Amino acid sequence: MTLSGAAIRRKQTSSLDPHDTAAAGPALLLEWYDRHRRALPWRPLSGERADPYRVWLSEIMLQQTGVKTVGPYFEKFLARWPDVDALGRASLDDVLRMWAGLGYYSRARNLHACAVTVLRDHDGAFPDTEQGLRALPGIGPYTAAAIAAIAFGRRTMPVDGNIERVVSRLFAVEEPLPQAKPLIQRLATTLLAATGIGTSRAGDAESRAGDSAQALMDLGSSICTPKKPACALCPLNGDCMSRARGDQETYPRKAAKKTGAPRRGAAFVVTRGDELLVRTRPEKGLLGGMTEVPTSHWLDAQDDKTALKQAPILKGIARWHRKAGVVTHVFTHFPLQLTVYTATVDARARAPEGMRWVPVSTLKDEALPNLMRKVIAHGFGE
Ligand code: ADE
Repeated sequence: MTLSGAAIRRKQTSSLDPHDTAAAGPALLLEWYDRHRRALPWRPLSGERADPYRVWLSEIMLQQTGVKTVGPYFEKFLARWPDVDALGRASLDDVLRMWAGLGYYSRARNLHACAVTVLRDHDGAFPDTEQGLRALPGIGPYTAAAIAAIAFGRRTMPVDGNIERVVSRLFAVEEPLPQAKPLIQRLATTLLAATGIGTSRAGDAESRAGDSAQALMDLGSSICTPKKPACALCPLNGDCMSRARGDQETYPRKAAKKTGAPRRGAAFVVTRGDELLVRTRPEKGLLGGMTEVPTSHWLDAQDDKTALKQAPILKGIARWHRKAGVVTHVFTHFPLQLTVYTATVDARARAPEGMRWVPVSTLKDEALPNLMRKVIAHGFGE
């Protein structure tokens, strides 16, 4: 049964029952957060005001990257550019260099463009509303809500994957993702702390909207985990509808995946001494902006001969060596099978247009997707 709009309204308006999540949940959540919050480098100490620059910088980095990886990058950026003024005056090249290894480089370009815009159009102060934030480069609805809540105490809930899981379990949301997103957003909003309710003033010290959001994020990453959630430790366990039924791991419900037809292609691992031939994928689309070795197109039922014909043209390649076996990878929409070919060229061989040589020793600084790590390992393997 899908929770209806009327049922949600009932939950939101009933404040008499202390066991009702809508009544007790927000306070229980904050109590738990005050004791168990993760100490993350961009979070101020308990009771301190959040710095909008730090919040913004961390949220951009966290858009497609996990907390553990982001930590050292965040510290590095902050040491070099301690405020938006410093970052806005930095060169884009320096920002991109510092970003190397975090991937999705359009984020770094937008980060720089955003700092420049804040300096030029906003006197160096970030707008304090979701709407104002969304007008800035690189800030979409989720990031705008996160910054508005965490940095400015706005009563809004940014819903990420962790929060989706917590909320869908708590309210046993039967509608599958992604259709359930609007419902989950509404339900998540009921978990905002009541203190400072409805305030629309900027920087309201009373508002703990940002803490409510981050409490749900922490709960999702440490307790309400995808597998084997530690329900006994959860501050909301008394109200959790899926726990009461014992089927919490089955949430969030997901629409049956429509896996596309398998695609096939060839990947070309070309070395020049200690260097490897690579290119950068287009910014938009699958693995946007990431580094790859050249490949053929990936097509349904493509035969090996057709794929090999798309090999990059380089001086001095007498023939391609086909590695035994294939590399397989499953993307959300289709499985892929790549045949790997290797070749070595002499020191004078120039990279074809749109490609470049990178020392194998610096590959770790490239934004290499897992698929490409597998391809390169296969190409270099015995
Ligand atoms: N992911 C995105 N924003 C986050 C935050 N503020 N804390 C922890 N994880 C996050």
